[in-house]
Amino acid sequence: VVPGMLIAVPDGIAVAREAASRLAKLILDALDAQGQASVALSGGGTPGPAYALLREDARIDWSKVDVFFVDERAVPPDSPRSNFRMVQEALLDHVSIPPDRIHRMRGEAADRGAAAREYASQIRARVRHAETGIPEFDVAVYGVGDDGHTASLFPGEPSVDVTDRLVIDVPSAAKREARLSITVPLIEHTRAALIVAVGKGKQEALERIWSTSGDVHHTPGRVLRGVRGSITWVIDKAAGGLG
Ligand code: 6PG
Repeated sequence: VVPGMLIAVPDGIAVAREAASRLAKLILDALDAQGQASVALSGGGTPGPAYALLREDARIDWSKVDVFFVDERAVPPDSPRSNFRMVQEALLDHVSIPPDRIHRMRGEAADRGAAAREYASQIRARVRHAETGIPEFDVAVYGVGDDGHTASLFPGEPSVDVTDRLVIDVPSAAKREARLSITVPLIEHTRAALIVAVGKGKQEALERIWSTSGDVHHTPGRVLRGVRGSITWVIDKAAGGLG
């Protein structure tokens, strides 16, 4: 049973189109309701084409949108591996967004623990809080890794258990650099989550996430089931096991 709404389209191009139009609608809804919007974006390869289409949408007043990041790699902002760089090139460089509304995670910081704490304070200062006291992003885009990770919460790591911090420093592991990542409380407090996945490699991870039972340590993407707001999955047929 898929928690939320599932939209399966033929291919990656259709995912980008669908994700861009849904993202625009969610941002516009938040702007209509509150006069401003907080948006948290994921990196990785999948959402870039959607961000590039989103920049064409002239209805969005970016001067009222705060852009945050879901996670960042421990690289400088000009690195080809930087999530910030990807979002900047696909979207931010092309819209009129005030620099103080762009909230970059300092992945390159020597003291990533301090960078994580600073980022949590920025979120606390700029994003409205739910009745629980936790900030709630109006809109967030999440991805899913082949191994079942989401944000930078990886299988077999204790990061998925962190509830006392909004942002953490994720140590490096065998095949990847260290990261900064938002944690489960922030993910769960998302008001509108848009989750994108493309390709056959994602099929098994999605099945594990959608299964009614499973271990969040084995499949951290299962934390997305706990999103309190709306959840929309935009995937291609291959990721859905349909093509
Ligand atoms: C990152 C991401 C990460 C991503 C998944 C899926 O920094 O890599 O934010 O959580 O969403 O790894 O990545 P792809 O879109 O590249 O498959």
